[in-house]
Amino acid sequence: MWSLEGLLLFFAFVLVDALPPPSHLEKASLAARAPTRECRCLSSQPCWPSIKAWTAFNATIDGALIQARPPGSPCHDPNYDAAQCDVVKAQWSNPYWRSAQPGGMIDASFEGVGGEQTCGIYANRTTPCGQGSVPVYIVNATRASDIARTIRFAAHRNLRVAVKNTGHDFDGKSMVRGSLGIWVHSMKSIRFHDAFMPTGGCQVAPKTAVTVGAGVQWGELYKAADEKGLAVVGGQNPTVGAAGGYVQTGGHSALSPFKGLASDLALEFQVVTAAGKELTVNQCQHTDLFWALRGGGGGTYGIVTSATFTTFPTPSQVLGIFNVTASSEKDQEAFLAELMRQMPRLSDDGWAGYIYVLGDFVGAFLNRANGSVPDAQQSLRFLSNFTQTHPLVKIDQVVVGVPSFYEFFKLASNTPSAPPEGSPKPPPDVPVSISRLIPRTAFDTSPDRVAKALMEMKNPATVYVLHLVAGGAVARFAASHTAAHPGWRDALLHVVAIFPNSRQPLSDVSGPRQAAYFNEADASEPNWRDLFWGAHYERLLKIKTRWDPNGLFYCFRCVGSDRWQDDGNCRVR
Ligand SMILES: Cc1cc2nc3c(=O)[nH]c(=O)nc-3n(C[C@H](O)[C@H](O)[C@H](O)COP(=O)(O)OP(=O)(O)OC[C@H]3O[C@@H](n4cnc5c(N)ncnc54)[C@H](O)[C@@H]3O)c2cc1C
Ligand SMILES: *[C@@H]1O[C@H](CO)[C@@H](O)[C@H](O)[C@H]1NC(C)=O
Ligand SMILES: *[C@@H]1O[C@H](CO)[C@@H](O)[C@H](O)[C@H]1NC(C)=O
Ligand SMILES: *[C@@H]1O[C@H](CO)[C@@H](O)[C@H](O)[C@H]1NC(C)=O
Ligand SMILES: *[C@@H]1O[C@H](CO)[C@@H](O)[C@H](O)[C@H]1NC(C)=O
Ligand SMILES: *[C@@H]1O[C@H](CO)[C@@H](O)[C@H](O)[C@H]1NC(C)=O
Ligand SMILES: *[C@@H]1O[C@H](CO)[C@@H](O)[C@H](O)[C@H]1NC(C)=O
Repeated sequence: MWSLEGLLLFFAFVLVDALPPPSHLEKASLAARAPTRECRCLSSQPCWPSIKAWTAFNATIDGALIQARPPGSPCHDPNYDAAQCDVVKAQWSNPYWRSAQPGGMIDASFEGVGGEQTCGIYANRTTPCGQGSVPVYIVNATRASDIARTIRFAAHRNLRVAVKNTGHDFDGKSMVRGSLGIWVHSMKSIRFHDAFMPTGGCQVAPKTAVTVGAGVQWGELYKAADEKGLAVVGGQNPTVGAAGGYVQTGGHSALSPFKGLASDLALEFQVVTAAGKELTVNQCQHTDLFWALRGGGGGTYGIVTSATFTTFPTPSQVLGIFNVTASSEKDQEAFLAELMRQMPRLSDDGWAGYIYVLGDFVGAFLNRANGSVPDAQQSLRFLSNFTQTHPLVKIDQVVVGVPSFYEFFKLASNTPSAPPEGSPKPPPDVPVSISRLIPRTAFDTSPDRVAKALMEMKNPATVYVLHLVAGGAVARFAASHTAAHPGWRDALLHVVAIFPNSRQPLSDVSGPRQAAYFNEADASEPNWRDLFWGAHYERLLKIKTRWDPNGLFYCFRCVGSDRWQDDGNCRVR
């Protein structure tokens, strides 16, 4: 068998490493503006609360206020600490460690100009460590009441706030220069329910479920669920958070074709609103907010302090793993065309999973819930058929069963502690990473065109991740069930293209109503309201306006963000 682990380590790293630079933030004017209500008050400005005011505030939240520094700080004079610096150096690329740093992002470049560049482990020790985008003060929240007090303090003082969970955001939205940080990582409770009923007393059938604190990460939750023989629909990376930006923007999974998007299966949220109120939202009460929090975007409507997800007996998984090496572009295109032609049938056969394309290589890691190995082999027969007609294409495949979703997850989600040698570097002036949800009709009517688009957009550095995470159960939910982009309901594949030549060919095969997954998209795309929220935008904007009339929760290209300048600090006049 080919080196699955190596390949996955590689792609996991590529995904992390390839995050777009915070260009709109860099371009934004950092000049101090008049701190009026038109603009937020930042830590660089005279309006910023005094030390005395911070000390008094700290006392109201039980001492949870942290004076934060970028994670690389101990490696720099005048605070150099050899022992601590050794720890920083050893852990620098470790996402578990990064997500546990109050001032850390998974991609260090989001710690910001002056932070990452002067404070990284590769910068000279004698270079002082700049604060970068790391908030000077961060609330290490452990209780909803701390968050409510923090929000009231921030609103009263007109501060900019930034909510951070794991720091996985592709656009660095969880860390904002000059803001007051609210960090939910320490909220780690996990509670299972045999018969969960939403608060509020409306008539709903009880469900098996799990309630997690806002800081719980998928790896932790999967393990706890698996110990009870259960599974939860969640992401493929162990350090992504369950209740933060993931579920609030939709949340796709290798279990989605089996059960739905994570947001489809969310039953309740505890949330602190912009008014500093603690609410329980579900299908019985505050239903508009409940709807928006299921796919309408993280960091927009309120701060989620816990989320309840449906659980179910863990399904066994049959894995279909194959790699394809083509000796010519023509053969690769022929293979991709065949794969795209098979896509609707693979979806109907219950497959989910991930297909990677890089150079002349195609690697697939597919899974099928509750399936049998012989059925799976039969379903993948098209592969050996293809090599009969294309003898120069080499396909290695293995079909194997594992007893649970957790076993599949562990196989598929090794996270690297160090970058592999020779990661591809992007050519200059190409989009960094784009997303499109490709509708099933594209595969039914013109699979060749989809393959052609992928070939046209490809250069030696391009990496595609074709996520087979739609179709099946995702398509069976009504588009109105949640705020997730309606395009999810017609889609089969979520294509992420890293370092493509252009975005046009993929747009051309995505149908007249383009859709992208905001969490993994190029946020700077034009027409972003339709692309990220589709026909749900207007309804989401009303909900945003109702629950956050003063725009306390701003993030770039989130719903309602166009009322603010791109740096999020001043209103658009
Ligand atoms: C390596 C990697 C793998 C990924 N795999 C998947 C995958 O398999 N499936 C998938 O769907 N996505 C995946 N993603 C995308 C991921 O879902 C998003 O990056 C998501 O926004 C991360 O949420 P977070 O809360 O962990 O991160 P953060 O960066 O901490 O937060 C992301 C956004 O949510 C806001 N937010 C965080 N916590 C809260 C809260 N409690 N209340 C309100 N707002 C909050 C933040 O302000 C920010 O805007 C992956 C990303 C990476 C980097
Ligand atoms: C693909 O499979 C072949 C045969 O098992 C193996 O030699 C090769 O290393 C694999 N390629 C990758 C990139 O893993
Ligand atoms: C907040 O209070 C705690 C407990 O008294 C203290 O340890 C911490 O340093 C304080 N934070 C700040 C920023 O002063
Ligand atoms: C670090 O900076 C000092 C002082 O500017 C300089 O003498 C030294 O050569 C630098 N070291 C490295 C490794 O660049
Ligand atoms: C945050 O709070 C938790 C819970 O009280 C504590 O265990 C942790 O050490 C704190 N983290 C930091 C960086 O202060
Ligand atoms: C899948 O398997 C699980 C565990 O055996 C079972 O509870 C469930 O009903 C099955 N689901 C389907 C759709 O077959
Ligand atoms: C594979 O080829 C066999 C024999 O030619 C044929 O019967 C079968 O339908 C083909 N299967 C697929 C999935 O193309």
